[in-house]
Amino acid sequence: MSGNTSNTAPSSDSTDDPVRNRQRDSAGADESHVRVEQIRKTFNDGSVVACEDVNIDIDEGEFVVLVGPSGCGKTTTLRCIAGLEQPDDGRIVVDGDDVTDAKPKDRNLAFVFQSIALFPHMTVRRNIRFGLDMNTDLPDEEKDRRVEDVAETLGIDGMLDRKPKALSGGQQQRVSLGRAMVMEPDAFLLDEPFSALDANLRDQMRVEVKQIQRELNKPMVFVTHDQEEAMTLGDKIVVMDDGNVQQIGTPHEIYNDPTNLFVADFIGSPSPNLLDCTVVEDGGELRLRNAAFEVSVTDEQAAVLRERVGDRVVLGVRPEYLALNDAETNGAFTANVDVVEPLGDRDAVHLSADGQSLSAVTPQGRVGRRTDEVAVEMEIERAWLFETDGTRLV
Ligand SMILES: Nc1ncnc2c1ncn2[C@@H]1O[C@H](COP(=O)(O)OP(=O)(O)OP(=O)(O)O)[C@@H](O)[C@H]1O
Ligand SMILES: [Mg+2]
Repeated sequence: MSGNTSNTAPSSDSTDDPVRNRQRDSAGADESHVRVEQIRKTFNDGSVVACEDVNIDIDEGEFVVLVGPSGCGKTTTLRCIAGLEQPDDGRIVVDGDDVTDAKPKDRNLAFVFQSIALFPHMTVRRNIRFGLDMNTDLPDEEKDRRVEDVAETLGIDGMLDRKPKALSGGQQQRVSLGRAMVMEPDAFLLDEPFSALDANLRDQMRVEVKQIQRELNKPMVFVTHDQEEAMTLGDKIVVMDDGNVQQIGTPHEIYNDPTNLFVADFIGSPSPNLLDCTVVEDGGELRLRNAAFEVSVTDEQAAVLRERVGDRVVLGVRPEYLALNDAETNGAFTANVDVVEPLGDRDAVHLSADGQSLSAVTPQGRVGRRTDEVAVEMEIERAWLFETDGTRLV
């Protein structure tokens, strides 16, 4: 399989020459701005393992998103980077320096939390300036210049003399971001900063934060449990589950080539179809048999399944790779149409076949709302195969 759980994608110019590879590796290490190395963090005398074996490289100017279900260790990982938690094992390296034992204020990293914690009695200007006043002895003119620059970037320059309560939720969150930006940190750490905002504002803030990150060209580590937010924002996505990193990759790599069943199921909406099948052999040809259908596999899939005739495997296929046609078409299986859900330019069509639920995504209006039955054709070459324990086979 080509899914990749290591930190750096294999380089296309990889050679078998160990000396050359070593040189390239060490050059690569220098480029990495923040490194999380083999972090493990437990709570309650070791009985709760919040994260384990976590390795992440965050390059200069890179937008990295940590995503996973509630309790998977995202905040703990971020707090270890920030210095708010001391890991049991592993190192945090910033700009080549081991900062694992450094205090948060000595790491030059800025963070923004989900809850907006502004000082209500201070103006926006003083709120944004607060960190500069507390932690630097810059001249006043420099502090003013930074506050005004940042406020302009964030579109809140007309509100500097207001108190936080005279701002909307989105404006308040921009002030929190401004407080982080004036410090001109080496990297930004954001923990679900938009989760308290309504959906439209959240979309707008996503675009803005991505633009700001591009302009500042500083690494940003952004935590979310929302896979769609992760896909929108991340140059690199770190998918976590149960304290462990499951996969690191670009949004396209994670979407197209998940390393295991967890990642496949977690990323994408509607979720992929995950179908129990048995490997069968029919006149020398390998096929996958399911309660509703039987399909031939590709040569690549057959090579992996050859030794597994009679075994159960899970076939995973994204809804967009099911084509729906009139029920008379040959070479397809029949499914009942349960619900047609308009998604905008496309429809999600929820189907059932022999007691199994499936979903397909089709162009708008392909399946009429009153259609009872369709013929389903699967693009088997786009399917993934997993062991029943979730390990990717091919
Ligand atoms: N201070 C703590 N004491 C004890 N257990 C903790 C502490 N902080 C976190 N945990 C546990 O560690 C695990 C990881 O928690 P963490 O907050 O990192 O998850 P998360 O991925 O950020 O979840 P969410 O999406 O809900 O914010 C959870 O089981 C949590 O209960
Ligand atoms: Mg959290």
